[in-house]
Parts: sequence; structure tokens; C-alpha cells
Amino acid sequence: MRHFVIVGILVIALAVLTYVGLNSAGLMPVPASAQAGPIDWLWDVQVKAMSFLFALIVVPMLYSLLVFRRKKGDTTDAVHVEGNTTLEIAWTIIPLFVVLGMAYIGAQNLGEIRRADPNAMVVNVTGFQWGWSFEYPDYGITSKELYLPVNKQVLLKMTSRDVIHSFWVPEFRVKQDLVPGRITELRITPTMLGDTYKVRCAEICGTSHAYMEQPVIVVEKVAFDAWVAEQQALAAGAGQTPEGRGLALVTANGCRGCHSIDGAPGVGPTWFQLAGSEVPLSGGGTVTADDAYLAESILQPQAKIVAGFETQQMPTYNFTEEQLADIIAYIKTLK
Ligand code: CUA
Repeated sequence: MRHFVIVGILVIALAVLTYVGLNSAGLMPVPASAQAGPIDWLWDVQVKAMSFLFALIVVPMLYSLLVFRRKKGDTTDAVHVEGNTTLEIAWTIIPLFVVLGMAYIGAQNLGEIRRADPNAMVVNVTGFQWGWSFEYPDYGITSKELYLPVNKQVLLKMTSRDVIHSFWVPEFRVKQDLVPGRITELRITPTMLGDTYKVRCAEICGTSHAYMEQPVIVVEKVAFDAWVAEQQALAAGAGQTPEGRGLALVTANGCRGCHSIDGAPGVGPTWFQLAGSEVPLSGGGTVTADDAYLAESILQPQAKIVAGFETQQMPTYNFTEEQLADIIAYIKTLK
């Protein structure tokens, strides 16, 4: 009996220590959405359960090793144990109910996370190798950054242009795959202002998977409305010129995920001072970056490979003649 009391006290002590230790390790980023509440609560329940189970296994094991070890000179056999039906029934039934209980609170929790607000703002999210594009159908704008008003539910309708990606902002907790040919949905209610959040891809999707991240900015409603108005004005003005339309196409297709416009290195060659320059090709020789070369590089990216970019596979894009001319006009402004 004395052993049970000592082990019991040690189990509780180690469980508490493990829980406190894990909690102070800062395993989670700040919770910045309404959905983070239920998730963090369930996570806490699980950390408590894990701490207890860890202590329940480790303490009796170490205690037995130390206290019941063979005495010096003792060569007798140990007691032969035949089995214990009561114990076996207990360790089957108790975990069964614990697991059923966890399933129940898990389902409740999922229901809470997915609760729909009929007034949610819709944002169409497109993932591609390797970047994100956000379209706001209510406002007729498309953005590289995900701007969200605080305390308003947003319904993300997501799809992919190529392979499977996964939308994940750690501070919002929730995560959802983007599947080509299908629309998947995710609801988020941001509750904390901030401009340092990032959406990152959580599904390995090719060479530059690690760089598939873009800013997420949560602002007050007033600031959000101002941003929308600014984007609408920009889009309206930009639609008047070839360069402006080209920039819009470049943004919508995520070209700048791989091509910098300021000479910075990237997955693909920079566009800075590209038009009209002599481009060194893989395998020797150069080509003049005229309109024909730029068009070919967009429609058939593998036709001429720039030296140093042999290992990169740019996806093929389809544009009309007019769109191509607009994009090339935009690239020509980068000097
Ligand atoms: Cu997209 Cu990883």
C-alpha cells in the first residue's frame, strides 16, 4: 500500500511539472482569431492528458527499477503471475470511454470552429507554384496581400491552379488544403490587429514550397475600407494603360513570387533592366531580350533557359496576344 501512495504522489507531481514545463515552452504563437479559442482549449486538454499519461508510465517504471531491483546475493525466482482479468477489463473499458469522450468534445469543437456567419465577407483564394492571389468579388479587386477587417468573419473560397497547396496562418490556427478543380472553404474571424502575419503553404508542392508565403494584414474596418477604395482607384487607373493592365496580370498570376522587379535574386531571373538586355543562356551564347524573346519565355518557358536557372521549372502560362503585349509593356517599365 505504501508503494501505491508514494507512486501516486510522484505521478501527480511529475504530471504537474510536465504540464507547467510544456506550457512555459511557448509552443503556440498568439491566438489571433475567434477560431483559435476552441482550438487552444482542446490543445490544453490534450497537453494535460499527455502530461498525465507520461507521468503514469514513467514514474511506475522508474520506481520499479529502483525499489524492486534484485538484492545482492538473491538468486531465487521472481513470483509467477498468471494474469489479472479485473485489471485487463479496467484498462480496456476506461481508455474506451476516454477516447469516446475525446471524440465527442472534438466534434463539438469542430462545429464551433466552422460556425458560419451569414454576413461573412467572401475572398477567393488561388494558390499556385509558388504564391497566393486574393480576389475580393464584392469589391472587384485582386491583391497580393490578404487584407482583412478585424472582428469580421471572412469566408475563404480556395482553389489551386496546379498542385495541392495548403492555406495556413499559424496565429489563426485553422488550416485547409487547396485542391485543383475543386473549391474548398475556410472561415476565419481575425480578432487581433497586426501586419506581421503570414500565410504560408503547409503542403510540400515543389522546389520553392518554402518561399510560398505572403503577408496577411488585419486592420480596423475604417482602414480596410480605405484600402479597398485605394485598390479600386488603382485598378481603375491602371486599366487605362498597357503597363497598368500588365501589372494587374502579373499580380493576379503571381509572377513576382519568382521574379523580382528590383534586381534581387529569386527563383527565376529578375525583370529589372531585363527588356533590351543581352541575356546569357544555359550552354553558352546570349539572346537579346526583345518582345519576341519575352513572349516566348512566357508561353514556352523551357525554350531558352537562362544560365544559372537550369534546375527551375517555370509553369507554362496562356495569355492572349493583347495580354502578352500588356505584360511586356509592364516589364519594359522596370529599368
Ligand atoms: Cu504550395 Cu507548398
